[in-house]
Amino acid sequence: LASTEVDVSSVQPGQIVTVKWRGKPVFIRNRTAKEMEEARNVDIKTLPDPQTDQERVKKGHDSLLIVVGTCTHLGCVPLGHAGEYDGWFCPCHGSVYDTSGRIRKGPAPLNLIVPPYEFISEKVVKIG
Ligand code: FES
Repeated sequence: LASTEVDVSSVQPGQIVTVKWRGKPVFIRNRTAKEMEEARNVDIKTLPDPQTDQERVKKGHDSLLIVVGTCTHLGCVPLGHAGEYDGWFCPCHGSVYDTSGRIRKGPAPLNLIVPPYEFISEKVVKIG
């Protein structure tokens, strides 16, 4: 399937749900207020792949982060709620991502990829 529709209304604050899109895992993370604050209180000039948190989410649905669940180094699946920035940690070679899915440490060159997606209703997201 080229696109996947997901009802995101049941994803609780603090929870990460994994869905499949084009055979790849996609993480849907409903971030807590603290996790969003951590993502926004970063000087993006210090980031290897500078992007603001706002660029990585949809306006009005800011708590929801949707990223392709493969490490941008060599494609392992990172572990959620792990690593020193409480984002993701890749166990293969130690890349560390923050609560915006941005690369902070380790060999991965890029942030976790935000796939194309849109809200087709208040509850349902269409990925792809
Ligand atoms: Fe994730 Fe190498 S594949 S750090």
